[in-house]
Amino acid sequence: MNTEYSPGRARAIAYANVALVKYWGKRDADLNLPDVGSISIALDALWTRTRVELDPALEQDSFELNGQIEAYGSGRVTALLKRMRSIGGSETRSRVFSQNNFPTGAGLASSASGFAALVTAADRAYGLDLSPSRLSELARIGSGSAARSIFGGYVEMHRGELPDGSDSVAEPLAAAADWPLAIVIAVSERGRKSVGSTEGMQRTAQTSPFYSAWVNNQPNDLALARTAIATRDFDALAHVSEASALALHGLAMSARPGLLYFNATTMECLHRIRRLRGRGVAVFFTVDAGPQVKAICAPEAADTVAAALEDVPGVTEILRAGLGSGAVSMDDGQT
Ligand code: ADP
Ligand code: DP6
Ligand code: CO
Repeated sequence: MNTEYSPGRARAIAYANVALVKYWGKRDADLNLPDVGSISIALDALWTRTRVELDPALEQDSFELNGQIEAYGSGRVTALLKRMRSIGGSETRSRVFSQNNFPTGAGLASSASGFAALVTAADRAYGLDLSPSRLSELARIGSGSAARSIFGGYVEMHRGELPDGSDSVAEPLAAAADWPLAIVIAVSERGRKSVGSTEGMQRTAQTSPFYSAWVNNQPNDLALARTAIATRDFDALAHVSEASALALHGLAMSARPGLLYFNATTMECLHRIRRLRGRGVAVFFTVDAGPQVKAICAPEAADTVAAALEDVPGVTEILRAGLGSGAVSMDDGQT
């Protein structure tokens, strides 16, 4: 363990996660309070590393993503740093350097690993020493899915009831080692989605005639998934996860104008996965706000699943992952 601590600078790593019971829709945009709870798994192969360096000479925070000054997402980063400074009573601005090892804004949850890594590094750099639950609350303000990436394995995000958002936080449901599933991701477009998740869910909540049905059904799906995870019931988890993913996309398509996150390759991958399961392979699909397909499977099925998806026209890359851990901060001695 690293016992050295350099005040004013720190690093963190956080892993992306994929929701099995999906989050889509907010009840408060400022604090980013969700209208629904969600359940996810962390992915060990998709991560963000972030470094935060305090500098009393800075007049503004700066944010560099993958080696480039990032103007597009810097508002959220700065707002979060400001909030963390006010907790610690500091006025010192920071330089933030971040790296995603997978495509940003493409439906692979870069906002989740990104904001979880940011709050975890900033917590250490500003010497706040907040609890994981408080970090989850802060990460949520950056991005709803980021609240879940504070924790590893199987994670539940609570909708919460309080207007201040202090109960809209995630908590671990089961450890990765309790049920070590594998994830095979079929990537068909590495570019940024044309409508980001924040805007997409806002449009859906405002215009879909089915939005209240989605919100009202969510407790049922959460209960089904919780039980499936507690009892390691793969078929039950497969059914509720596919239902939640398809309901999310049906809902998004019912917004006006409708949101189309699938491409033709997405649809073909879903058919292949259903066919594999029909042949007895332990696999199911989920899809987020982007065209990439995530196949969740038993570890012994991962080679078969990867081979089947690699074959689908339009699949440009296969990513493979196991279940990941929670966000971790490190001292930033030399880098
Ligand atoms: P995704 O499917 O990748 O989560 P979103 O539309 O939800 O797509 O979010 C993408 C946004 O998340 C980016 O435009 C940026 O603002 C933010 N983001 C991505 N990576 C990071 C990072 N490493 N640090 C901070 N913010 C990030
Ligand atoms: C489809 O967490 O990216 O991936 O809170 O506006 O930043 P913001 O949205 P984000 O939305 C994720 C939506 C999803 C489903 C999920 O991860 O639960
Ligand atoms: Co996101």
